[in-house]
Amino acid sequence: MLPSRLTRAAVLPALLLGAVLAAAPPASEANEPKDLKFATFDESKREYEAAVAPFVKKHCAACHNKDTSEGDLDLVSLDADMKASTSGARWAMVVEKLASGEMPPKGKPRPASAELVAVGRWAHAEAKRAGKNFARRQAYANGNAVSHATLFEAHPVPAFDGGNSIRRLSPEIYAAFTNDLAKGKTGIGQPFSPEGKFAFKDMGAPKIDEPVAAQLIQNALAIVEVQTAHKIEDGKVKAVGQGPKELLALFDPAAPPTDAQMEAAIAFQFNAILRRAPTASEKQRFVALMKKNVADAGRTVGARYALAAVLLLPEAVFRMEVGSGKPDAQGRVRLAPRDIAFALAYTLTDKRPDAELLAAAATGALDTDAGVRQQAARLLESAKTDKPRVLRFFREYFGYGAATDVFKEMKENPEHDSRALVEDTDRLVLWVLERDNDVLRELLTTNKSFVAYKTAADTKKKRADALAKFEADKAKDPAKFANKQPPKVGRSVYLAYGLKDFPDAQPVDLPAAERAGVLTQPSWLVAHSTSFDNHAIHRGKWVRERLLGGVVPDIPITVDAQLPDAPHHTLRERMAVTQQEYCWKCHRLMNDVGYPFEQFDHYGRFRALEQVQDVEATKKNVDKKGKPLGPVTRDVPANAKGLIAHTNDPALDGPVNGAADLMKRLAGSARVEQVFVRHAFRYFTGRNESPGDAATLRAVHRAYRDSGGSFNALVAELLSSESFLYRIPTK
Ligand code: HEC
Ligand code: HEC
Repeated sequence: MLPSRLTRAAVLPALLLGAVLAAAPPASEANEPKDLKFATFDESKREYEAAVAPFVKKHCAACHNKDTSEGDLDLVSLDADMKASTSGARWAMVVEKLASGEMPPKGKPRPASAELVAVGRWAHAEAKRAGKNFARRQAYANGNAVSHATLFEAHPVPAFDGGNSIRRLSPEIYAAFTNDLAKGKTGIGQPFSPEGKFAFKDMGAPKIDEPVAAQLIQNALAIVEVQTAHKIEDGKVKAVGQGPKELLALFDPAAPPTDAQMEAAIAFQFNAILRRAPTASEKQRFVALMKKNVADAGRTVGARYALAAVLLLPEAVFRMEVGSGKPDAQGRVRLAPRDIAFALAYTLTDKRPDAELLAAAATGALDTDAGVRQQAARLLESAKTDKPRVLRFFREYFGYGAATDVFKEMKENPEHDSRALVEDTDRLVLWVLERDNDVLRELLTTNKSFVAYKTAADTKKKRADALAKFEADKAKDPAKFANKQPPKVGRSVYLAYGLKDFPDAQPVDLPAAERAGVLTQPSWLVAHSTSFDNHAIHRGKWVRERLLGGVVPDIPITVDAQLPDAPHHTLRERMAVTQQEYCWKCHRLMNDVGYPFEQFDHYGRFRALEQVQDVEATKKNVDKKGKPLGPVTRDVPANAKGLIAHTNDPALDGPVNGAADLMKRLAGSARVEQVFVRHAFRYFTGRNESPGDAATLRAVHRAYRDSGGSFNALVAELLSSESFLYRIPTK
């Protein structure tokens, strides 16, 4: 039981929450205009009417009004009150398009720079009044909202604007961390669940609400219980398990702990958890806390609470990437070497930094970008270092892992094995990464595939053995086996790949006209299907967002997103409902790039024909009494014609026929490569890119190109970039 004076309202949450709040980035903007401030919306509104409304009318309204809302944006009625509405993100986009010179479009008169400055000043000041973290990355909940041109084409390159970031540990890192400290202990729960609204699971700011705090506290106490497990025998304290002597000394029944013993225990705990010694003031604070707790709650509980408090320091629970020291000439501060060591480790592995990284931090080897790049490259290239986060990036980026979440009726296809399909694509990704050459193009176009590679050899052998036994039994007693089939062993996963048997060597070459890369792997096709059908819209959305970098507005709640139930029509015919004008402004972005995958069925099997219900034949399919016997199908050619359009890249736009055609076209595009770089950026930095990351993104893309498409080179450049290593301090 917790003594009353140490309940949740007291010491521990205060330590935890107080420190977190103190470290959280304030909502102000480093490069905001200093001279324009609005106390009220009325003040803001006056400025809006004086400067912004006339500007919109003159330069934008022709295309962005109620009737003609290009880019789904009506600027004439966009709410000027960013507090009362969600218009902040849209205004942020407006400012960005003005800054990059993309809007008004080429060929239209350029606004005067005084006009542009006035609009920018108003928007920043109104955002500030409304408490919006404007023009910073929070404005871009959808990463693709920052225009591609701003990031890769605008000149001059937008200035770096990276603010402090504090992130919670990923669930995997937290689990590995607690497991290191208290292996096998039950009662340690996962406090961190993914947020869901971002492209990648580990993105988003830490949220420490009551349930998370309660779980963290419960875990800390459970861990400390393991660390300090002991018994008293013959008046002496003895460890139960592997209790370190520094901690055991606290519980010696012969004498209360001395200050020196408490200091040693605190120092031990800091090293065990944070991999560093406590500072003098931390030592003082924690010893004082321990003394007070012991006085309040007795030796065992009091000492444990103080040790648990170390586990609740923000530094133990979060990634504190906040920069230290004096700003450089560009106004940036660099992360402390220790924080860099942790950031590198957490970015690539699920573990805390290894000894070499910590040594590099301690000896100044992480003080230069080149030094950081060297350590990043070491981790990336070392076969010894387990880097689960690299494969996880590809799983999350492509989304093929979700194949195991799509329910399929086993009766309809007993050979379907979603887990094997996912494992195959995992293996294919790793195979491509091992070569580390032209990685994206390979992933988008290779016709190589693994086929139930974990179990193929074993299943094949078991099948041969079972068949041999069957034949032998049959030879002994032909009458008994005359009408029997050999027993079935395992699932014929190879059918999903269009093969006749498990291959002997892996990877195998599948027909290049049929299969091209991860998007034609059965795992991806299943992950982007429904239980009973293909999901061309969903597939197209994936291509639009993750390869073309487009933004598809959310499906409006007023739309009843149901295709007509018409089994005598193909999926494509049923999708015709989305071609109404209102629907098409969104669906033109998805449908056309999703159609080429109609070459596959919803198990990922290649098909030249698809089946639809034959209405006439079904009508005639009745028994003698006229009772219907069920649907009859007929074959129609599968239509895999699609269209790449609305990409802002004339070299890409045009008709395509089939998935391989689509993938080859996309894989050859520099823009697609850049969009891939943007996604890698999001995953490995844990945040969406903002205009100020333009220099980093360009450098990373260059490093990828110059290395002949090495993913290691891409990541090493990213991890030694300005965006990763520097912050602009908030004043
Ligand atoms: C000649 C027509 C035209 C004019 C004038 C024009 N735009 Fe646009 N705008 C477009 C089109 C077309 C799109 C959608 C395609 C694109 O993103 O390039 C668009 C897209 C946008 C977007 C992106 C919307 C989104 O959701 O991605 C913003 C922001 C924008 N315009 C702002 C402006 C501003 C501010 C002005 C005035 C300075 C302006 N536009 C003037 C045609 C125009
Ligand atoms: C503002 C954009 C937008 C508009 C307008 C829109 N949709 Fe959609 N719709 C979407 C998005 C986004 C999805 C994709 C959801 C996903 O990820 O699978 C979608 C999906 C669908 C689906 C597939 C649903 C499913 O999950 O199987 C149907 C059917 C559909 N829309 C019909 C319509 C129809 C009919 C209209 C016009 C009356 C319409 N939509 C208008 C954005 C839009």
